[in-house]
Amino acid sequence: MNNIINGTEIAKNIKDQLKLEIEKINDKKPCLAVIIVGNDEASHIYVKNKNKACDYVGIKSDTYFLNSNISEIELIQLIEKLNNNEEVNGILVQLPLPSHINEKNILLKINPLKDVDGFHPYNIGMLSTNSAKLKSCTPSGCMELLKRYNVDIKGKNALVIGRSNIVGKPISMMLLNEDATVTTAHSKTKNLEYLTKNADIIIVAVGIANFLKPHMIKDGVVLIDVGMNRAKDGNLCGDIDFECSQKASLITPVPGGVGPMTITMLMKNCLTAYKIQNNINIEED
Ligand code: GUN
Repeated sequence: MNNIINGTEIAKNIKDQLKLEIEKINDKKPCLAVIIVGNDEASHIYVKNKNKACDYVGIKSDTYFLNSNISEIELIQLIEKLNNNEEVNGILVQLPLPSHINEKNILLKINPLKDVDGFHPYNIGMLSTNSAKLKSCTPSGCMELLKRYNVDIKGKNALVIGRSNIVGKPISMMLLNEDATVTTAHSKTKNLEYLTKNADIIIVAVGIANFLKPHMIKDGVVLIDVGMNRAKDGNLCGDIDFECSQKASLITPVPGGVGPMTITMLMKNCLTAYKIQNNINIEED
C-alpha cells in the first residue's frame, strides 16, 4: 500500500483549477503585491517561487524589494499605499523582517481583506470562530491534504507539536473547527511521548530534523510534517523521521508533501481576496 501523501500532485491539481478559474475572469486579473525587506537568501527564494506560481495561475505579481535599513514608518507608508490601491487585491510582507522593525505592528497595518497570509489578528479571530475566508497558507495546505486523502478528523485525537503563530496555533484551530480533539504541544510540554502514542493525527512543526521517532507513535497514525531542515548529510529532511512511514497509515514526505501546498494556498487566497473585493460569491469548502 502506498501511504505517502503526494503534495506535489495535489498542489498541481489545485493550481490548474485556479488557473482555469482565473482564465475566465474577463476583467482585470487578480494582483498580489509582495514586499521583501533586505537580503535574506531563503526569503528571496520563497519570493521567486511565489512569483513563479503567480505567473502559472495568471495572477499579476508586483514585488517591492526594499533595503534592509528602511524605517518602520516608510514600510507602513508603502503598505497604506497598497491598501488604498484598488488594483492590488493581496498584500504579503515576507517574514522575517529586520530586527529594527516590529513585525506585529506591520502585520496589523495590512487591510484584513487583502491579508492573503491570514496573519492579521482580524483573520485569526475569524478563524477562531470558524468564519475566516483568508486563512494562513501552510495550515490550510495541511488541512487540504487531510481532506483529499479522506482522513476522518471528527472526534479523532489530533496532536499539534509546535505553537507558532504561523502554523501551530492556526492549525490547532482548524482541526478543532473540524471536530477533532486537539492537543497543542510545545517545548515546555511534559511527557510528550504519552501524547504522541495516543494521537490519531500528528502535525509536527518544530523545525528540528527528525524530531518525531517511530517508537513515539502508534500503528496507523496519520503524520503531517511541516518541517524543512538540512540534515547532517546535506539532504533536506523534515521534523519527522521518515522511518515512521513503517507504522503510519499516511505520511507526508519532505520535500514533496506540505511544502508545495503553502504557495498553492496563497494563490487560492489571492483569488478569494479578489472575490471578496469584487463581491463575487465564494464557494465554501
Ligand atoms: N516566511 C516564511 N514563511 C512565510 C509565509 O508563509 N509568509 C510570509 N509572509 N513570510 C514567510
